[in-house]
Amino acid sequence: MSKYFKAKTVDNFSLNKHFSLLNLSPLSDIDIPQPGQFYMLQAGDTCDPLLKRPFSIFRYEDNLLSFLYRIRGKGTLSLSRLKSGDIINVIGPLGNSYPVPDGDFIALAGGIGIASLLPLLDRFKNRAYLFYGARNKEELVMIDAAKGISKETFITTDDGSEGKKGLITDSLIDFLNPSRITHHASRIYACGPTPMLKELHRIIKSQIQNPKSQIIECYVSMEEHMACGVGACLGCVVKVRGQETVDSSQKWIYKRVCKEGPVFDIKDIIWE
Ligand SMILES: Cc1cc2nc3c(=O)[nH]c(=O)nc-3n(C[C@H](O)[C@H](O)[C@H](O)COP(=O)(O)OP(=O)(O)OC[C@H]3O[C@@H](n4cnc5c(N)ncnc54)[C@H](O)[C@@H]3O)c2cc1C
Ligand code: FES
Repeated sequence: MSKYFKAKTVDNFSLNKHFSLLNLSPLSDIDIPQPGQFYMLQAGDTCDPLLKRPFSIFRYEDNLLSFLYRIRGKGTLSLSRLKSGDIINVIGPLGNSYPVPDGDFIALAGGIGIASLLPLLDRFKNRAYLFYGARNKEELVMIDAAKGISKETFITTDDGSEGKKGLITDSLIDFLNPSRITHHASRIYACGPTPMLKELHRIIKSQIQNPKSQIIECYVSMEEHMACGVGACLGCVVKVRGQETVDSSQKWIYKRVCKEGPVFDIKDIIWE
């Protein structure tokens, strides 16, 4: 099936001051998206902005594609102006997906990162310990939906307006403390801002060195700027560890987030 298709806007509405939900009905048959995959959505019908923008699949139900988005600049502002009945160009589903969890797991979402992780929580209901952090109460979205499909939910906000005050990674550190372990999760899935992912990398390194730790794997969804979304422009590359062979040892190579990602093993990324 072609990844290039047109879709009709079913509805497009604000959930609160920051977030909106867009529901699209594809006008042709499409491949079924997996949690972690994304679509390039045409942002408006003019040449400004010219490029499509990447958005994680938030929900796929009854042949409706749903996207949870936050208005940031020109592209997302144009997206917010789509009205019921408007037709847009779409490419997807693109990229790889989150590996299937083998039991209970931890999901770490920072801000709009919840859009990418919620389908995983929904596919594997009541198996996730969800850690979800945002700047303040208004920037948390879909909390009730997330709570309803998670085993346990931990919320933090920077200003303490909802949940615990502080960083979500600090709550994760408490939870992972081997002397207080009450869970059987061995894998972490994460999506959110780069500083959160860098801190997670530091946490994972110390977990791996700790013989009492249960955590053995961690997968992160990377959010790089994208131009083409299909592997052609090299605009979305990240540095990952190279492969050592008998003949050569390359310390690092570039991988395209849109093609080889967006989901990577956290240990493979070179965090600078
Ligand atoms: C694989 C993937 C999945 C994504 N899923 C979602 C999603 O489900 N919901 C959602 O709201 N957003 C998502 N994003 C981010 C979204 O694509 C950007 O917010 C959007 O492209 C911004 O376009 P714009 O024209 O409105 O803003 P621009 O004018 O292009 O930029 C406005 C501001 O946003 C920053 N920005 C732009 N793109 C990104 C990016 N990729 N990462 C971090 N900062 C960025 C810019 O640096 C600038 O400060 C995803 C990004 C990727 C790569
Ligand atoms: S966005 Fe063009 S190669 Fe990834």
